[in-house]
Amino acid sequence: MQTFLHGRDLIGDLDFSKEEVETVLDVAFDLKRKRALGELTPYLRDKVLAMLFFFSSTRTRGSFEAGMAHLGGHAAFIESRTTQISHGDTPKEIGEIFGRYFDGLAIRHVDWGVGNGYLNDVAKASRVPVLNMQDDIYHPFQCLADLMTIVEKKGRDLRKKKMVVSWAYAASYQKPMSVPQSLILQMPRFGMDVILAHPPEFKLMPGIMDQAQEQARKFGVGFEVMDDMDKAFKDADIIYAKSWGAMVHTPDPDEGAKIIKKYESWITDERRMKLAKSDAIYMHPLPADRNVEVTDGVMDGPQSVVFDEAENRMHAQEAVMALTM
Ligand code: CP
Repeated sequence: MQTFLHGRDLIGDLDFSKEEVETVLDVAFDLKRKRALGELTPYLRDKVLAMLFFFSSTRTRGSFEAGMAHLGGHAAFIESRTTQISHGDTPKEIGEIFGRYFDGLAIRHVDWGVGNGYLNDVAKASRVPVLNMQDDIYHPFQCLADLMTIVEKKGRDLRKKKMVVSWAYAASYQKPMSVPQSLILQMPRFGMDVILAHPPEFKLMPGIMDQAQEQARKFGVGFEVMDDMDKAFKDADIIYAKSWGAMVHTPDPDEGAKIIKKYESWITDERRMKLAKSDAIYMHPLPADRNVEVTDGVMDGPQSVVFDEAENRMHAQEAVMALTM
């Protein structure tokens, strides 16, 4: 068990080794159990987390803020538009200055081609851990909560479990590709065979695909890519289907929106769920475009674990904060 994570950043999913992620899971389950029993967990008493948001959030803000309070500390909610960032505060200044005020800096910045670079620039200048609340490449805390939920539902031995990470149609906006990228990097390390399904224009970043293939090879699991949602769902144990944008294919949002419209049939509905195993679980990080991306019947049905997934954000994040800050 690797326990010395004090002072570490979590920006990319592979920043923590598999053993370190296992430690996070152990601590997260312990925190969840203690909360159920009403036991106090003041591991970060008097510590303060800055939560800097460049993009909106429901779950991430709520779960980090509640999590810091459960750990005996405080979380400061800071929207970039209410700061002097647009008037010249650089990432270096944010890292240097906030690093002196706070005990951890959590940042959400999902702008394509910008977000991850911003987090890394802040981290270079910060004396305290930088935690990625989602950027344009990774959503590591979502992925830790997803892994925790899969372990709860399917057990710790996930070898031979088939996980489908599928694109789904959604017209609301071009969603970041950080969730599927985090999933294909992390899940092979825990023994799952991963199927990635998407229409041809919705490829993930080539560098991330290379790393995912390398992880699959290293951990002796399957990693297959296909462009047929029905074929992908067949006999799956875990269905994780959500929309993402066509940014790798085209950086033009109008062209991306036109391409998305071609694939309205990529919805998770009751017929498709029947192609998977009868005890398959349905996962989505939320928010979802209901009856566009996924039917109400699936989202609110017996196979859906979306609310446990959302709850587990809090426990997984508390674990990482308690270990790093
Ligand atoms: N899943 C997720 O990150 O939700 P929010 O965008 O509401 O934070």
